Amino acid sequence: MKTNWHQSVIYHIYPRSFKDSNKDGIGDLNGIIQKLDYVVELGADTIWISPTYPSPMRDFGYDISDFCNVDPLFGTLEDFDNLIQEAHNRNIKVIIDYIPGHTAWEHPWFVASASSRINPKRDWYIWRDPKPDGSVPNNWLSVFGGSRWEYDARTGQYYMHSFLKEMPDLNWRNPEVVDAMLEVLRFWLKRGIDGIRIDSFNVIYKHMDYLDEPLNPAYIHGENDPFREHDHIYTLSQPELLPLLKTFRKVLSEFGDKFMVTESYVEMPQLLKLYRAGDSLHAPFNFNIFKLPWNLNEYKSFIDVFDKEVGHEYIPTYVLGNHDNHRIATKIGSNQARIAAMLQLTLRGMPTVYYGEEIGMIDGEISLDEMQDPWAKNVGDVRLGRDPQRTPMQWNTEKYAGFSTKKPWLPIGKQYMYSNVEIQQSDTQSMLNLYKTILHFRKQSPALLYGTYESLKIKNKNVYAYMRTYKTEKLLILLNFSEEEQKISLNIPTSQVICNSYLTKEKGSLMDLKNSTLAPFEGYILQLSQ
Ligand code: NOJ
Repeated sequence: MKTNWHQSVIYHIYPRSFKDSNKDGIGDLNGIIQKLDYVVELGADTIWISPTYPSPMRDFGYDISDFCNVDPLFGTLEDFDNLIQEAHNRNIKVIIDYIPGHTAWEHPWFVASASSRINPKRDWYIWRDPKPDGSVPNNWLSVFGGSRWEYDARTGQYYMHSFLKEMPDLNWRNPEVVDAMLEVLRFWLKRGIDGIRIDSFNVIYKHMDYLDEPLNPAYIHGENDPFREHDHIYTLSQPELLPLLKTFRKVLSEFGDKFMVTESYVEMPQLLKLYRAGDSLHAPFNFNIFKLPWNLNEYKSFIDVFDKEVGHEYIPTYVLGNHDNHRIATKIGSNQARIAAMLQLTLRGMPTVYYGEEIGMIDGEISLDEMQDPWAKNVGDVRLGRDPQRTPMQWNTEKYAGFSTKKPWLPIGKQYMYSNVEIQQSDTQSMLNLYKTILHFRKQSPALLYGTYESLKIKNKNVYAYMRTYKTEKLLILLNFSEEEQKISLNIPTSQVICNSYLTKEKGSLMDLKNSTLAPFEGYILQLSQ
């Protein structure tokens, strides 16, 4: 069966925080199965689940001690197989996190590698001699703070870790590592996954000369994340990454039209390189939108270029948030988040909705003693903490928001009494109903599924206006980015409302575009008569 990835909508589940089925305060695979009907009702057709592999959980599953199993916290391989089956029964595709760049300390490969300089797995990781004075081989920084090198006295060398020191980097220049990791990929493909999200793709290769990285002149000490102190010319976006996409594709295509999405925090030029080095079943996540200030011109100029450059062969992606970044409603405000959702869900390509975005969840408040994230702990800066965006999904008004019956691993967000699925299901104007309305409309709208995107030049500088067109279906989207009412006067015939972002207008009601008003932060999807 051919899968139509170009029209897919991804729902991103962070398993620890989605639904706890076995009452231990941590979400699990069976919890996800219990909520698959919810994903269908929402209108998404693909789930991406963050890692559930066995792990010491220092980085909550991104530190893996066995690539071919499930951590007991999340369930068993049988539960995983059930999840695939249950998802497929509902026509939901499953993307899993594939983490090629590093393992946990505890992984048998690293245990062997660290055991002696002559162990056959020594070169599976990146080992270097100290400088003559015993210091680190170069100035490279770990993304999670401090040096990228850790000294191991047992064999008198340093090993490299791009993240925590307990997460040593695999050496992708060693063909045995490549083979072993491709076998891992086959292991999961055989179990029926539909695609992979490749973790930290940009970090996999490092330059072979191991020269010091230069300082970043834009770095502001005390204000920026310490990792930004250097310009990472030797540790990020190395040219070897581009052909690697083809290596992954070869394996994926042994199993049909599987999708791969790469995690790369890069700007437009590198983003486009990644697209062009891959094929139409690969897309890099585009994180640029949520990094922009809330400003119409910034959004519009980025999207105009991105949409055109990606073209119709590849799949434009739009991400508003994930487990590593603060929630969109916290960053830009709740009404603005409605506009952002309307934008994301009506642009061409593949939107990714991070669990809870659809009920307008905001960042949780985490006190110092509740802090779990190793990054924030490592750098000693609570601002870098990723716990606020990982608080449990808010299902209802029960004690632990219907997530669990036991105290959850992170506190429940304070606004859960009104920001929860059950309440929003029955509130006709809720954020949840906005997502459902747009996503279900999208499924049967050729203009949204296949149409072109064209932004309009209109007099009103606070309103983002664009058309989505496919054959005779013409949709006009109007988004008021400002906190003031905006008058609209367009030389366009009367149009029919599909929905407005506050869900206060009846579907099918008429709107006279020659003379109408948009409320503060109000957006519209309109159908134009032919
Ligand atoms: C990116 C993941 O999204 C993040 O959560 C993780 O900490 C790092 N990669 C390391 O695997």
